[in-house]
Amino acid sequence: MRNIVFVTGNPHKVKEAREILSPLGIAVEQNNCGYPELQEDELPPIAAFGVGWAANKLEQEVMVDDSGLFIEALNGFPGPYSAYVFDTLGNNRILKLMDGETERRAIFKCVIGYCRPGEKARVFAGEVAGEIANGSRGSAGFGYDPIFEVNGVTFGEMGEDEKNRLSHRYRALVKFAEWLKQGH
Ligand code: IMP
Repeated sequence: MRNIVFVTGNPHKVKEAREILSPLGIAVEQNNCGYPELQEDELPPIAAFGVGWAANKLEQEVMVDDSGLFIEALNGFPGPYSAYVFDTLGNNRILKLMDGETERRAIFKCVIGYCRPGEKARVFAGEVAGEIANGSRGSAGFGYDPIFEVNGVTFGEMGEDEKNRLSHRYRALVKFAEWLKQGH
């Protein structure tokens, strides 16, 4: 097993990462020391800066996860501001913004950043296309899970296994694991 430190304060992300990575031979250890989050329009530079900062601070190889929900009808909002918007507005206010809107497509994106001290950060992106549900459904998962649906089923209604087989996080983590397997 290869051991990787995951710098995040979010235990749900850690749980999902463990379920996805452990069958691939990677053990995940959480560290919630935090890191500065740049304000950028896209996720990759936010993850790259944060992971580089954390690798140098902890003096070891680390990974981070920066995710965001990009809603088509809202021109990609909340995108990179997803954490702030979730904390200030929450799912019900997002649903209100989408009231009467027939264009409900949205993309959930995840960028995994990885870095060793003194080296250049790498990023691995994954995304899943879905729709904003008409209401909040299901109590599994976290964050936007009850309002983001894929093929009519919200992440909140899916079992962990089902979400972890198709999620933005799964797609990014698999790319990361494949790259590590190549001997990096
Ligand atoms: P961040 O990556 O921690 O900045 O997450 C952005 C926001 O999206 C936070 O409010 C998270 O709770 C939420 N989020 C991240 N990943 C997921 C997910 O897989 N499902 C639902 N919400 C998520």
